[in-house]
Amino acid sequence: MKKLLLACFLLGPAIAHAGPAEDRQALLDRYAKALPGIRFEDYVYGSLAMNPKAKSQYDDIMAFPPFSLDVDEGRQMWEKPFSNGRHFSSCFPGGGRNVAGNYPYYDEGRVVTFESAINACLEANGERKLEYGGKEMGLITAYAKSLSDGMKVDVKVEGARALAAYEKGKQYYYARRGKKNLSCGACHVEQAGELVQTDRISMLVGQATHYPVFVDGTRVMTLQQRFRQCEENAGMQPAKAGSEIYDDLEYFVTYMSNGLPMEVPVFRK
Ligand code: HEC
Repeated sequence: MKKLLLACFLLGPAIAHAGPAEDRQALLDRYAKALPGIRFEDYVYGSLAMNPKAKSQYDDIMAFPPFSLDVDEGRQMWEKPFSNGRHFSSCFPGGGRNVAGNYPYYDEGRVVTFESAINACLEANGERKLEYGGKEMGLITAYAKSLSDGMKVDVKVEGARALAAYEKGKQYYYARRGKKNLSCGACHVEQAGELVQTDRISMLVGQATHYPVFVDGTRVMTLQQRFRQCEENAGMQPAKAGSEIYDDLEYFVTYMSNGLPMEVPVFRK
């Protein structure tokens, strides 16, 4: 018994300081236990992985996506030269191919999301920036991120300051607030798989692989807009898309999808 207590004492601080990799593994273990019927590679389907009928409808829709013209509009925006003759592709490693899985990353004091990289590119080339939650931002990222389809999410948290941003995002995720005293984690971790109206609550792992999505096949929605929607539905005060706290939250949320392949954009209800 004494030995056990000593072990707990020694291990305690180590657990308290567990890093992102340990956080992710703990979630994977938890989901594997709570939802043994769902394979890791199916986590990308979220709620659909727990509803075969909805998944089969989804497959039919994805065979002929109703949003292909919207994605094409995004492609035109991406390919259109700036007034200085340069292109978006000049701002991204590999011309923008197979890079989206590395976003968000931490650089020079803040988290860089794919959207903020698009805006930084516009600014660097003397062009007007796009509104964070706006349709244009949704369309251009829907196309640009599709250039990374199949790439595995590979978010890195390296160094004390990157870790601090990750921790802030994590804290926000698990902080209970609002009229119903809920947190993101209260639903997507503790109650993953539970039925809410007609949907089963998705696992945090896998959620970031496919954004932006087209809601009802028509309305483009970025990941941070989806955060806002959940906060509104759950009676929490939503933050602003593009705010520091949402960037930190996206950093944490996306890290948890590490190792899963990207597919952008997809249909969501
Ligand atoms: C009251 C429970 C509840 C809370 C609290 C909640 N959500 Fe959700 N969330 C849902 C439900 C239900 C859906 C729709 C079904 C699904 O995809 O899980 C959803 C969907 C999502 C999706 C889309 C998943 C996909 O595959 O498209 C993301 C991302 C998400 N939530 C993130 C968050 C974040 C981040 C927070 C906290 C800021 C949060 N949620 C808070 C219940 C909740």
